[in-house]
Amino acid sequence: MFDELTSRVVFVTGGNSGIGAGVVDAFLAEGATVVSADLSLPEGLSGIGERAWAVRLDVSDESAVESVLDAVADAIGTVDVVVTAAGTSTMGYATETTGADWDRNLDVNAKGSFLVARGVARRLVAADRTGRIIFISSQAGKNGYRGMTAYVASKHAVLGVTKTMAVELAPRGITVNAICPGIIETPMKHRERIEGGAIRGMTAEEVAAEDRSQVPLGRTGTTQDVAGVALFLASDLAGYMTGQALNVTGGMTMH
Ligand SMILES: NC(=O)c1ccc[n+]([C@@H]2O[C@H](COP(=O)([O-])OP(=O)(O)OC[C@H]3O[C@@H](n4cnc5c(N)ncnc54)[C@H](O)[C@@H]3O)[C@@H](O)[C@H]2O)c1
Repeated sequence: MFDELTSRVVFVTGGNSGIGAGVVDAFLAEGATVVSADLSLPEGLSGIGERAWAVRLDVSDESAVESVLDAVADAIGTVDVVVTAAGTSTMGYATETTGADWDRNLDVNAKGSFLVARGVARRLVAADRTGRIIFISSQAGKNGYRGMTAYVASKHAVLGVTKTMAVELAPRGITVNAICPGIIETPMKHRERIEGGAIRGMTAEEVAAEDRSQVPLGRTGTTQDVAGVALFLASDLAGYMTGQALNVTGGMTMH
């Protein structure tokens, strides 16, 4: 669909599950070279298929981010497109949220996304190349949600980084945008229904029914729904967009 992506090196964090895995598959189907970087993968950058690479990475570990990006540059080349889908969440009302909950959400979702985007941006600037930075934030980056204090804070932070890096990198031809997914069927969402339901006195099935009832389009989202927007943002069609936060929520969030 997007022929220009065949020449791109795409780095996807959280690529071993859920939305990140959907993004990996979508870019591979477009003919891109794709590196999946995830905490749950084996150590060491290795080729795992035609144009497909995998590496273990904890995005919250600053030196690990730098050494993995160096290894990618040496083995494959400069990363043109980064999608930061690595993420975590803890469920708990604000009054019950611990400092450790706060640190975990902010470290992975906010600092981790920033560290990876910064590393890719530094290398693009040094190579005098244009590129695309695509953050996965959330509609929780725009709204408050009960029982998700630290997560909501972390996703708001991602949108602040998006807007600031967009302004700073625009003169370099590097665009920086965020996707704000709504309710997407992934392992994280399934776990959240169990844990979030427990603190609200609901079963996971009751939470799932409530989820569906809140979406104007009448269904929850798939990883492909999100991946398609990532492809668009990486494509030539989106060249005049930067600093934006695109909702992929079935109409649930409209601002
Ligand atoms: N599922 C949803 O409804 C939804 C909605 C909005 C935003 N999001 C966001 O989308 C992203 C992906 O979520 P998902 O639902 O696919 O979750 P998921 O749990 O299915 O996948 C997340 C992946 O991130 C990896 N990961 C976790 N911590 C990491 C770390 N420190 N370093 C590297 N990798 C790490 C995990 O191993 C996992 O493979 C997250 O940022 C999440 O907040 C999800």
